[in-house]
Amino acid sequence: MEIQQARRPRHLLPPDLENLSGFEAALAAGWSPDPRRAGDQAYVRGELQRLRQDRSRFLDDLIADGRRRAGSGPPPLTIRLFWIWDGEFCGSISLRFRACNEELPPEVSGHVGYSVVPWKQRNGHATNALSLLLAVAAKEGLDRLTVLCNEDNDASRRVIERNGGELFMRGPHPSDRPDQIKLYFWLKPGAAG
Ligand SMILES: CC(C)(COP(=O)(O)OP(=O)(O)OC[C@H]1O[C@@H](n2cnc3c(N)ncnc32)[C@H](O)[C@@H]1OP(=O)(O)O)[C@@H](O)C(=O)NCCC(=O)NCCS
Repeated sequence: MEIQQARRPRHLLPPDLENLSGFEAALAAGWSPDPRRAGDQAYVRGELQRLRQDRSRFLDDLIADGRRRAGSGPPPLTIRLFWIWDGEFCGSISLRFRACNEELPPEVSGHVGYSVVPWKQRNGHATNALSLLLAVAAKEGLDRLTVLCNEDNDASRRVIERNGGELFMRGPHPSDRPDQIKLYFWLKPGAAG
């Protein structure tokens, strides 16, 4: 008789040297962590090369991004990056914010970015990860997040709606081409079920 594999718990992991190999394998399979550079194999190969040249430095850069200052003057932009994890690497999700300030620099396309590797998609990973990230945002004291997706990205739209996203605007964003129409949603940290 076939024994069903137990469903693995899903959570968010801060990147570290131990779990970096999952991210590395995803890059090696051609996955781009940046949705705007999906299919850009030169970018993916470059990232993989940088990672393999110096793993500690690559990781430092990845996390240091989270401490990068953007725009002019305080408060700084904080990026909290996590791996989506089910016992294996499933993708990444990040929260980008300025403390005590709902505004973001124009080059940052919303408070949240996420991507799931193709072989783990349609298993609820992104929906679950966004729900977990809303709890992180609540702990950071954020009252409201702006989350964007391309108008034709049905999967991402569903992920946002499943987490209580409220559509408030439609239009381009300075971080992307002027003809790329985005849907703008508000999300309440801690409000997802
Ligand atoms: C968008 C993305 C993160 C969704 O990840 P995922 O883990 O497959 O999403 P989920 O399994 O949580 O699915 C969420 C919903 O979208 C639906 N969905 C998933 N993939 C879909 C697809 N290709 N087309 C249409 N609907 C899709 C699911 O059926 C589910 O719907 P339901 O809630 O009605 O059941 C993933 O497709 C991805 O990484 N895409 C490339 C990067 C990207 O677009 N990132 C978002 C930038 S805003």
